[in-house]
Amino acid sequence: MTFNFQFFLLITLLCTTTTTTTVAQPAQAPGPPAPTNITKILEKASQFTTLIRLFSITKVGDQINTQLNNSKQGMTVFAPTDNAFSSLSAGTLNSLSDQQKDELIQFHVIPTFISTSQFQTLSNPLRTQAGDSTTYNFPLNMTSSGNQVNLTTGVVNATVENPVYTDGSLAVYQVDKVLLPMSLFGPQPPAAAPSPQTQKEKKKKAGDEDTTATGDSKANSSRRIGLRWALHGLMNGVIAFIVMYYL
Ligand SMILES: *[C@@H]1O[C@H](CO)[C@@H](O)[C@H](O)[C@H]1NC(C)=O
Ligand SMILES: *[C@@H]1O[C@H](CO)[C@@H](O)[C@H](O)[C@H]1NC(C)=O
Ligand SMILES: *[C@@H]1O[C@H](CO)[C@@H](O)[C@H](O)[C@H]1NC(C)=O
Ligand SMILES: *[C@@H]1O[C@H](CO)[C@@H](O)[C@H](O)[C@H]1NC(C)=O
Ligand SMILES: *[C@@H]1O[C@H](CO)[C@@H](O)[C@H](O)[C@H]1NC(C)=O
Ligand SMILES: *[C@@H]1O[C@H](CO)[C@@H](O)[C@H](O)[C@H]1NC(C)=O
Repeated sequence: MTFNFQFFLLITLLCTTTTTTTVAQPAQAPGPPAPTNITKILEKASQFTTLIRLFSITKVGDQINTQLNNSKQGMTVFAPTDNAFSSLSAGTLNSLSDQQKDELIQFHVIPTFISTSQFQTLSNPLRTQAGDSTTYNFPLNMTSSGNQVNLTTGVVNATVENPVYTDGSLAVYQVDKVLLPMSLFGPQPPAAAPSPQTQKEKKKKAGDEDTTATGDSKANSSRRIGLRWALHGLMNGVIAFIVMYYL
């Protein structure tokens, strides 16, 4: 009876283990889902050829795909239509350096997934991939009331239109304007008059490094001189003592 019971336990244990492994396996079998491809998504929507081109030139498209694969935060893209790009004044894009094009495109990307229901709860300014959201740099504000959702950059006001794509990790919203950031298209702060403090610092910098170095080494050498004199004094004392002792 006892033996049978132990045998029974063993069999149960074995069965449980096998069941667990057989249950675990099918979950892995289908393999990881295909990585999200922002270009493919935009191609399907068929009115974002300029944005696709810019995503490719700046490599921001690849970056979005990689970030989506590697982070749990998700991403949100505000996608200006071809119409939005063609309504920019002539030469706007061509006047930008590669670095500026990159900043312009990063400004349309938020490194978190934002669902439409979260629009009401966001605090301004939004944090975009372009970075610094202070007044003269890359601020982007969202205002919404009812179904109407607007974005303002301080340079342009845009309306957020229908979601082009959303999967809980990536959200792509169509916007009717290119989001032109203050940093590249807005007024810049008036150049601050240099304060006496900065002038002094500039002088110091412009002068030469010796000025600062001298201060330090002076301190060090006077310390060394002090030490030498102390030793000197000690030696004199010893000599005086020896001379006195023997005389
Ligand atoms: C993403 O899709 C585009 C267009 O369909 C394709 O050219 C590109 O190779 C894809 N990228 C990856 C990483 O699969
Ligand atoms: C996605 O991430 C996994 C590990 O997190 C990595 O093994 C894989 O190569 C990545 N795929 C792409 C397309 O970046
Ligand atoms: C959004 O902008 C439109 C004009 O483009 C304006 O009529 C509307 O009041 C704005 N809505 C919000 C919530 O700011
Ligand atoms: C954006 O919102 C912040 C905080 O409410 C405000 O200080 C700033 O002036 C706004 N900027 C623009 C361009 O609307
Ligand atoms: C954007 O909208 C605000 C009001 O919400 C308005 O004061 C501002 O002039 C608008 N800017 C542009 C460039 O249309
Ligand atoms: C001065 O001496 C200190 C150590 O006593 C040393 O750390 C420092 O680098 C020296 N400065 C110069 C300019 O030699």
